[in-house]
Amino acid sequence: MRTLITNGTIVTAEGSHRADVLIDGETIAAVGRDLAAGLGDGSAPDKLIDASAKYVIPGAIDVHTHMELPFGGTFAKDTFETGTRAAAWGGTTTILDFAVQSRGKSLREGLDAWHAKAEGNCAIDYGFHMIMSDVNDATLAEMDALVAAGVTTFKLFTAYPGVFFSDDGAIFRAMQRTATNGGLIMMHAENGLAIDVVAAQTAAEGKTDPYYHGVVRDPIFEGEATNRVIRLAEAAGVPVYIVHLSARDALDEVRAARDRGSAAFAETCPQYLFLTLDDLGNGFEGAKFVCSPPLRPADHADDLWRGLVKNDLQVVSTDHCPFDFAGQKDLGRSDFRKIPNGLPGVENRVDLLHDGGVVAGRITRERWVELISTAPARMFGLYPKKGAVAVGSDADLVVYDPAAKHTISASSHHMNVDYSCYEGREVTGEASVVLSRGKTIIEDGTYVGAKGDGRFLRREPSQAYLRIA
Ligand code: URP
Ligand code: ZN
Ligand code: ZN
Repeated sequence: MRTLITNGTIVTAEGSHRADVLIDGETIAAVGRDLAAGLGDGSAPDKLIDASAKYVIPGAIDVHTHMELPFGGTFAKDTFETGTRAAAWGGTTTILDFAVQSRGKSLREGLDAWHAKAEGNCAIDYGFHMIMSDVNDATLAEMDALVAAGVTTFKLFTAYPGVFFSDDGAIFRAMQRTATNGGLIMMHAENGLAIDVVAAQTAAEGKTDPYYHGVVRDPIFEGEATNRVIRLAEAAGVPVYIVHLSARDALDEVRAARDRGSAAFAETCPQYLFLTLDDLGNGFEGAKFVCSPPLRPADHADDLWRGLVKNDLQVVSTDHCPFDFAGQKDLGRSDFRKIPNGLPGVENRVDLLHDGGVVAGRITRERWVELISTAPARMFGLYPKKGAVAVGSDADLVVYDPAAKHTISASSHHMNVDYSCYEGREVTGEASVVLSRGKTIIEDGTYVGAKGDGRFLRREPSQAYLRIA
């Protein structure tokens, strides 16, 4: 099966140019001008896609999702089937989801459980990070085996005491291990112990609305934990990747570390660029916006945009972790501490970043592609198989209409959740055609893929050790 995409503007992290893309089977066979004329044998391609006035970009990669995550007494609502289909609608062709090690069980058991949830269900390719709940001799040894099995990244938490929290010694031991096995530690950096003290005091004063979720998780607690884990990584002599960075205080620590030559990397998420602490107000409606770290006062976002421009932040992921407002967020109606933490967003990231970044003049279209696809591919051992429009790369491609306008709404989105954080927001830019390894899965406003199209990705070690970004 040969597909020819003609007349488009190829946009990559490196630059933009007019060219055709020829796909043969699952990979890109040629990129160049007038490829139809050069097919050689006089034959026509099996499928022709006209990308006039459109961009052709590498499929977007969302390196932070939580499909079916058990959390806060319930489960994230999107399954691998519904969540990956929604991702495809939004131009994302790869997700990396977090498998969870349950306390007392092995990493392998956790990983197997996530394989069982995903296998045969995904619309797009997928890989896993491993959440480590216990750090001990056995799990440290297992890390090596997971790296060899293509699960090369491990998330630990200074937040959520009693759930995912690890102490500094555990974090340091896991970091030391990555110095020898090529893994990369991803950190949720908030001082969860201090936050729980303030949260208990605040609830005891009768302040139980969702808004207080944002108040008690002071940016200082994110800055402190970010500095601490970066220092631990420096002492261990390894890179570290900070997930879902939300606050200026944390960004300052990442920037300072990078300025002194440390391999400190970080992602932020659309919610921290487009939503603010004020969204947590408005009574219990604010529960729709409860996530950790929390939404911040508006001025933090200005710093995050600067961080994206200056490459102190290298990746934008979603932290997609959807809970219905009715029946799930409700669990915390009487106490913000009981609201399941997490927001939907896997479908919206590409368009929000295009609209609020490229169209608004904050970032170039090339930087947009780098943030949503190429840098994630490099950081997480997928490049150049993914994240590139190049001969030999997987034909994960998006024909993107940079002028199409649409309004984000729960009534039209494809995520399995009963609200949108961006309800009513008009955005410019939309995926017109989405291909996953050469197969068209979105076309003419229709999903034409099938459950099970997506394959598990065994990843290489991160190129962070080469200080790629
Ligand atoms: O609120 C969030 N972020 N929920 C998902 C779990 C996590 O910490 O990433
Ligand atoms: Zn987290
Ligand atoms: Zn997360």
